[in-house]
Amino acid sequence: IGTDNIRNFGIVAHVDHGKSTLADRLLELTGTVRASPDNKQLLDRLPVERERGITVKAQTATMLYSNHMLNLIDTPGHVDFSYEVSRSLSACDGVILLVDARQGVKAQTVANYLLAADAGLTVIPAVNKIDLHNADVPETISQMCVGFGFEEDEIHKISAKLGTGVPDLLNTVISNIPPPAGRPDSPLRLLLFDSWYDKYRGVVCVVTVRDGKVSRGDLVTSIHSSKKYEVADLGLLRPQQVPQNSLSTGQVGYVILGMKDSREALIGDTICHTKCYSKVEPLPGLKPAKPMVFAGVYPMDQSEYTGLRASIERLILNDSSVSSQRDTSVALGQGWRLGFLGLLHMDVFIQRLEEEFNASVLLTTPSVPYQALMRDGSILQILNPSHFPDKNKVTEFREPIVKGTLIFPDQYLGKLLALCEERRGDQQQLVYLTSSRVMLKYILPLSEVVFDFFDQVKSISSGYASFDYEDAGYQKTKLVKLDILLNGQQVDALSCVVHADSAYSIGRSICSKLKDTIRRQLFEVAVQAAVGGRVIARESVKALRKDVTAKCYGGDITRKMKLLRQQREGKKRLKRIGNVELDRDAFLSVLKKD
Ligand code: GTP
Repeated sequence: IGTDNIRNFGIVAHVDHGKSTLADRLLELTGTVRASPDNKQLLDRLPVERERGITVKAQTATMLYSNHMLNLIDTPGHVDFSYEVSRSLSACDGVILLVDARQGVKAQTVANYLLAADAGLTVIPAVNKIDLHNADVPETISQMCVGFGFEEDEIHKISAKLGTGVPDLLNTVISNIPPPAGRPDSPLRLLLFDSWYDKYRGVVCVVTVRDGKVSRGDLVTSIHSSKKYEVADLGLLRPQQVPQNSLSTGQVGYVILGMKDSREALIGDTICHTKCYSKVEPLPGLKPAKPMVFAGVYPMDQSEYTGLRASIERLILNDSSVSSQRDTSVALGQGWRLGFLGLLHMDVFIQRLEEEFNASVLLTTPSVPYQALMRDGSILQILNPSHFPDKNKVTEFREPIVKGTLIFPDQYLGKLLALCEERRGDQQQLVYLTSSRVMLKYILPLSEVVFDFFDQVKSISSGYASFDYEDAGYQKTKLVKLDILLNGQQVDALSCVVHADSAYSIGRSICSKLKDTIRRQLFEVAVQAAVGGRVIARESVKALRKDVTAKCYGGDITRKMKLLRQQREGKKRLKRIGNVELDRDAFLSVLKKD
């Protein structure tokens, strides 16, 4: 199959609009997999993806159909993973833009459309779920025409579930998306756009051949690291690995280069033949993923440190967007400070750690990467509350901000405006997409968005509003470090950096939550919140006399021993802070906002 008969494309859509279902139908229609009612989200491989019904890692499949080689590059749908979307789009020449006919255009649809249009890709619009009785196809089509400037007759009407309209859509992919533009007779350039770690084969790189041809046994070099490798294996993903002798211009597939660590497989890297290393220009690289949320992760018990370290390292091998640094807490011992793309990304990571590696971890209050401009002119990154500087040495604090887009039916306008204002937002734009659908743009501090903004938006609008955001740099702000003290002793794991105006209310709320979750102990426990040594809130937990052996009236010593042993077991799940014991729930309760 020549380059002219190759099509590299993706499907982009808001979460749940049916991307994975459409991918399953395409795999069946092209005979790549046999049709079966069990074909559900064939490209979603992680257990957490199936369970939560969201795609986290992009997957790729090659299909052969009517004399064409069609490479489908699947993309994730959630806001936290837009980095994965751009990474997948870099390998495509066109995309199918899918919109659910019940829900209409959502913020993620706009964000994905813009990513694809900015990358110069052909966009094929399609309305999905037309089989549903409450589908509003004309309304959805009109939103797509107004929002993106499509013509009504170019919008496909499909049911990914039943397969209606899917053959026609696939024919449009073949006729409208251009073949890859590479040059077969130029020196080899491979774009590395994804990778995963296979415990038997090492790092598997997913690549597209931009120019030239790569064969098994070739000697190649990474332009980024200048490291040399031999191509041990290569082939197509259908979606399982099918080895080939070579991959030629325009093809998408896997290569195995004998990399042991996925940090060697740099996303966006260009790989060329070693003999051409000095004369090949690198392809425009992808921007590296930027962690936006940082949290401390500690083993429940220090004896689990080594095991947890191995699990975290294994998981990071597969998710290079997580950053990691060793960290020590007085209260929690040895652990790590991990950086994530967003809160969902953090949840997914911790869930995978607990499920796939059977780890039990304590998580500290997450925070965003603040900055302090110091008197000596340097800029200090505050990724951890314990690095909060002395305020006399600081000229100015800065916080990360984002440009947020909200799309919703206009009856929720008042409440959503109020929410954005309360979260210190700065309105940029308010437009009506149709007579009853509003698009609102706000600059918002990331710290106000990251925690529960998304949940608030959903609950205010009964799930009808959608939200997406992108990085917008830093702005000046007022910050303080809020400390939590138990019986006068500061618990570093509960400290957080907050906006000066909200320190008081956050301090009060944390104290009251701790009061409800700290188990009563043999003595009274004072729970205090303080800023710069000044106490701003206080609660106390009354004393309790708890003697588990009280019911064994002296006599039976073995029974007494057993009860004491049980009590010891229970304590393993507790953390001793000074003379106070805290359990996992106490830490978790502080993380949750009201
Ligand atoms: P992410 O992977 O999270 O981005 O979601 P997705 O866009 O891949 O959505 P998915 O394919 O998982 O579909 C979401 C839900 O919609 C599933 O329950 C599907 O069965 C259902 N669905 C998808 N397409 C159709 C359709 O054409 N008709 C009907 N009735 N349901 C559909």
